[in-house]
Amino acid sequence: MSALPGPRVRIAPTVEVLVPRLARYLLRCARMAVRARGRFSLVLTGGSTPRPLYEYLATNARVAAAFPWSDTVVFWGDERHVPPTHADSNFRLAHETLLSRVPIAPAHIHRFPVELPDGDAAAAAYAAVVGRELADAAEGVFDFVLLGMGADGHIASLFPGSPLLRGATALASAPWVPALDTQRLTLTPAALLRTRSLVVLVTGAGKAATVREVLEGPLDLSRLPAQCLRAAHVPVTWCLDAAAARLLDSRLPPPARA
Ligand code: 6PG
Repeated sequence: MSALPGPRVRIAPTVEVLVPRLARYLLRCARMAVRARGRFSLVLTGGSTPRPLYEYLATNARVAAAFPWSDTVVFWGDERHVPPTHADSNFRLAHETLLSRVPIAPAHIHRFPVELPDGDAAAAAYAAVVGRELADAAEGVFDFVLLGMGADGHIASLFPGSPLLRGATALASAPWVPALDTQRLTLTPAALLRTRSLVVLVTGAGKAATVREVLEGPLDLSRLPAQCLRAAHVPVTWCLDAAAARLLDSRLPPPARA
């Protein structure tokens, strides 16, 4: 089987330049999906990085007017096991900055059922929701997965050393995260990689060393969970500001596939 292309790296000088470009790319993907299949399934990330993107999607008049929100369904790549109104909630971030400001149907917003006190039960319930979405979807995939990355190389709530990096088949899980001394709720690579488009949004100088290791370093999946994206069967696009990209050696070819 011919090797799939390596990741695409898109670098913008600042977040202020990066966000509109990514918003326009997301809009193009959404409109193509709706034209082709009548719906756009989007997996959102948590953390602080996506906040300016969500704000832009909600407030830029041209993008907001053109975005097919009435045909869009959203999911999350991971969640903290806290109420949806909690300051740490990934749902709350997206709802406050974006979803409460666009014409998306409440029934199209699929958040983790954090009301279930048992994390494993919440993950299993969400896996069933995601499973139904993927089973009904053309080719069994999401249209767009948006991820961030931590300075330790985690994506979603797949942290260094996570057993979920070793071929978990479940679509969602509730791993204990020793580094945070807490349980998280997360989609697994088995779900995150089932997508037509996958974008990793990383900004800031504090992540530059990790970006270089993940993209240009040797495969070390347990230490750098973001390297699981090398196994993606679609091109992965890394959207970086110059600060996050500053240590990349642009002369290097994309890394060999996992
Ligand atoms: C979360 C996110 C997580 C995030 C990274 C980066 O729940 O925290 O889903 O995977 O993308 O931790 O977080 P920042 O954007 O805050 O740096």
